[in-house]
Amino acid sequence: MERNNLSTSVFGLSYDQIDSLIEQHDTPLFIINREKLIDNYQAFRSFFPGVEIYYALKANPHPYIIQVLGEIGSSFDVASLQEIQLVLSYGISPQRLIFANTIKRKKGIRFAKENGITRMTYDNFDEIGKIARVYPEASVILRIKTPSVGSRINLSYKFGAEPQEALDLLLQARDAGLNPIGISFHVGSPCTNVENYIASLKLVVQIFEQAAIKGIHLTIVDIGGGFPLQVYQTQNNEVSVESMGKTLTPLLLEYFGRDCTFVAEPGRSLVGSAGLLISKVIGRAKRSGKNWYYLDDGYYGTFSAIPFDKSIFEFYTLKDDTEKYPCILAGPTCDSIDVIADGVMMPEMELDDLVFVPNIGAYSWASATTFNGFDKPKVILS
Ligand SMILES: Cc1ncc(COP(=O)(O)O)c(C=O)c1O
Repeated sequence: MERNNLSTSVFGLSYDQIDSLIEQHDTPLFIINREKLIDNYQAFRSFFPGVEIYYALKANPHPYIIQVLGEIGSSFDVASLQEIQLVLSYGISPQRLIFANTIKRKKGIRFAKENGITRMTYDNFDEIGKIARVYPEASVILRIKTPSVGSRINLSYKFGAEPQEALDLLLQARDAGLNPIGISFHVGSPCTNVENYIASLKLVVQIFEQAAIKGIHLTIVDIGGGFPLQVYQTQNNEVSVESMGKTLTPLLLEYFGRDCTFVAEPGRSLVGSAGLLISKVIGRAKRSGKNWYYLDDGYYGTFSAIPFDKSIFEFYTLKDDTEKYPCILAGPTCDSIDVIADGVMMPEMELDDLVFVPNIGAYSWASATTFNGFDKPKVILS
C-alpha cells in the first residue's frame, strides 16, 4: 500500500495491519474500534451521572458492539422480536432491555413476555389494548411528541402522543390492567439544540404532576437518544454530549428528584465515531468532463446512511497531501441512484486506491443491503 507522509496509522491500525486485513478479507472493511466504543460509553456515563444507558441497538446491531457494550454494563433499547433475540443470545439479562417501539407486533409482545422483558413503550390507545391482551403484567412507558427543532431526523413525526393526550393514555393503560411507569421522548437525531430536551423535560414534569393527582406514580424519565457524535459548532456555542450533560443532569434532579430512574437511549453518540469504512476504487471513468470513481461500497451498502439517515461523510485517501479535484464517488451497483458524493474534492486516484470514511458507525452497516449481490462489508473489531 502507498503511504502518505502525514501519519503512521489510520484509526489505530498501522499500515501493515491494514495491508494484512485487506489481504485476508479484501475490501470493503467496516472497522469497529473497541477503544473508541468504550470511550464513548464511559464519556456518556461521566457527562450524565445517574442516567442509565440503554444503547439503541438499531444504530448498529453488530454482535461485537453488543458484546463490548454488554461487558462494560450497558443496557439495551430494542425495537423488535429479532433485536430482543439477538441481545439475549449474548447473555444480556432481560432486565437490561426496554422494548422501545411504540408500535409492536403481537408476536413481539408475546416474545417479550415469554423472555421476561417487562418494560415497553406505547403512544396510542390501540397499542394499550394490544399489550393488555397479550401481556397484561407489562410495565409501560408513554412516549410523547416533543420538539425536534434543528434535528436532522424528526423522531416526533411518526411517533409520540400529543402531550395533552398523555393523561388519558396513562389512565387508560392503568384501567386496562397495565402498569404505567414513566414517560419517554426523542428530540430527533442528531440533535444539536439542547432546548429540545429542556422543553421536553418541562412537558414531562407536567405529565408527572397530572398523573400523580390521579394516583399514578410515575418513576421513569426516558430522555431518548439524539445526542451528537461529535462537537458541533453552532451560532453561539459548541454542542456536544458533554455540554448537553452539563445542562441536563442538574435539571433532571431539579425537576424530578432523586427517587426517579433516569434513562437515556443513545445510539449514534456511542457507535458513530467508532466506525471506519475502508473502501477501494474499483473503476474510473470520465463522463461529460467529470471524473467518476467507483468504490466497492455504495448507496445500497454502508452508504445507505445517506438516504436513510441523511448523513454526510468525509473521505480520506493515502494521497491527501497531493492536489485535489472535484469528482463523483459512486457505488458498485447497476443503479444510477448509487452515487455517494457529487462534487467532492479528491486527489487523482487510481484503481485499487483506498478511500477511508470515518464516523460511519451509526445507521450505515445496520441498513446495508446486498442488492446486486454485493456483500455487506466485512466487520473487523480493532
Ligand atoms: C426510540 C429510540 N430511541 C433511541 C434512538 C437512538 O437515537 P440516536 O441514535 O439519535 O441516539 C432512536 C433512533 O431512532 C429511537 O427511535
